Amino acid sequence: MRFVAALLAAFAMSAPAAAQAPLAAEGCYGCHGPGGTGAGGIPALAGRDAAELRAAMIAFRANERPGTIMGRVARGYTEAEIAAVADHFARLPR
Ligand code: HEC
Repeated sequence: MRFVAALLAAFAMSAPAAAQAPLAAEGCYGCHGPGGTGAGGIPALAGRDAAELRAAMIAFRANERPGTIMGRVARGYTEAEIAAVADHFARLPR
């Protein structure tokens, strides 16, 4: 048990951004499809440019980009989480 805790602690310290991104991205799959490949007319995120995804999220959050739901979704994420999630989706296969 102590070994597992030490392993987890080591993992959390060595890869904070990597540990955070998949968690934050869990909230996107429900609408953007499993793996972020798009679903039911909702655009795909997987394999797209990280800077573009990040800019879109920041604009949704600031109410500068029109949308039905993304403005509200994006406001639930910090800029660090948005950056981590954008990097995460950019690395996924289309
Ligand atoms: C409740 C459903 C829902 C959730 C949850 C959701 N999205 Fe969206 N997303 C949409 C819809 C619908 C659109 C189309 C714009 C609109 O109507 O708001 C969209 C559009 C986008 C776009 C713009 C894509 C384009 O090509 O125009 C990005 C980027 C995006 N979402 C990222 C995310 C990320 C990252 C998450 C998770 C943090 C997420 N979304 C969670 C429904 C959702």
